[in-house]
Amino acid sequence: MAEALRVGIAGLGNVGASVARVLRDKAAELTRQCGRDVIVTAVSARDQKRDRGVDISAATWFDDPVEMAQIAEIDVFVELIGGDEGPARLSVKAALEAGRHVVTANKALLAKHGVALAEIAEKRGVLLNYEAAVAGGIPVIKTMREAMAGNSVTRVFGILNGTCNYILTRMEAEGISFDACLKDAQRLGYAEADPTFDIEGHDTAHKLSILTSLAFGTRIAANDIYMEGISNISQADIRAAGDLGYRIKLLGVAQRTDSGIEQRVHPTMVPTASVIAQVHGVTNAVAIETDILGELLLSGPGAGGNATASAVIGDIADIAKSRPGFQHGPVFGRPAKELKPYKKAQMRSHAGGYFIRLTVHDRIGVFAAIAKRMADNDISLESIVQHAVNGEAAAQKTVILVTHETTEAAVRKAVDGITKDGHLTDKPQVIRIERAG
Ligand SMILES: NC(=O)c1ccc[n+]([C@@H]2O[C@H](COP(=O)([O-])OP(=O)(O)OC[C@H]3O[C@@H](n4cnc5c(N)ncnc54)[C@H](OP(=O)(O)O)[C@@H]3O)[C@@H](O)[C@H]2O)c1
Repeated sequence: MAEALRVGIAGLGNVGASVARVLRDKAAELTRQCGRDVIVTAVSARDQKRDRGVDISAATWFDDPVEMAQIAEIDVFVELIGGDEGPARLSVKAALEAGRHVVTANKALLAKHGVALAEIAEKRGVLLNYEAAVAGGIPVIKTMREAMAGNSVTRVFGILNGTCNYILTRMEAEGISFDACLKDAQRLGYAEADPTFDIEGHDTAHKLSILTSLAFGTRIAANDIYMEGISNISQADIRAAGDLGYRIKLLGVAQRTDSGIEQRVHPTMVPTASVIAQVHGVTNAVAIETDILGELLLSGPGAGGNATASAVIGDIADIAKSRPGFQHGPVFGRPAKELKPYKKAQMRSHAGGYFIRLTVHDRIGVFAAIAKRMADNDISLESIVQHAVNGEAAAQKTVILVTHETTEAAVRKAVDGITKDGHLTDKPQVIRIERAG
């Protein structure tokens, strides 16, 4: 049998401790699958005294993950610390430069420094594997990097944040407000004490930027993503969506267009009958659309110690199965030096259907004025419905418009016009409609 693969784990929190535990519990199975033993020889975290729920006493302890990254006694450095700078970045860089394979679950690090790190890995002829960084346990990186050769991706989109999907699912199922759902999510441990990063779309954007690079062979451009979170989605939107045959999901979407690549994260209406609309709670899903394959949808657990550990261990096993001298495939599907610059498609040229919900004064001429603003901007309407606001028969009305395909620029101009006309009693709500099978 080949020599054992020696693993060093930096970070023994939620994911790191799960990885150590599964490597111990499934040692015999992994040996059979990989043709060699996989053993943890070194570990690093901040607090050596903390009980990790797994016996790590046989591994050498390091206070400094950068030091551990460079020792000769490991073949693979597994980074599970988190953060886009500091010890995570320094240790991954040091490990790659020292010729160690690296496995990481760190989307923030890859979104910011992925291409630079890939260049080092490819120069040193080692692997940089990151399956767990996007959609947790779902093997989407492997699928895009290895199983779709020859396919040209036209669009990739997904539910990439379990916290947002949990909140939207409960808002719809139980008719409760965003704030009440968020509080519950925090109590149950599905949302952080400071939830901004998740609910405003940043986490989804990090993951999307990695998928965009794999899909279109472009350099990662995490700062060039149009982003709207879910904090202003109300029960009125959820009910109206349901009446119209839609469900609201926070999607990350990357799409090739004539003018470049769109990268956008926003609440989206998807047809209730579509497969992605059936993805509930903390579950994640990624849809990939290509010229040869058509549409593929992968769904499963997007977070949690064990699910994430499953992806990390899959990455470690790939390294265990690779043989010395074997030429590894490039980190983002194409050699890092050949990744093209990201050409951004302007959001204002985005084409699609739109849902527009307006709360207006109930007076003569308002309906006609709205219809005129739409017509002036060449927006054709699929439906227009008006009804009283919460039984307040007199003062205000809700007008709900669904457009046929139009552009973002046209919708913004029309809604600005309606706002200037002075008929609105509340902020207008605009939600994009996404085509989904
Ligand atoms: N949790 C998930 O469901 C999930 C899903 C997908 C991806 N990820 C990614 O996985 C990574 C880890 O997440 P997690 O949830 O496991 O985080 P976590 O529970 O906060 O664990 C972080 C670990 O890093 C250690 N650490 C922090 N600073 C360190 C330093 N300077 N030197 C050495 N060790 C240090 C901590 O040590 P102490 O324990 O001693 O404090 C802790 O063990 C992140 O990149 C995250 O984005 C997580």
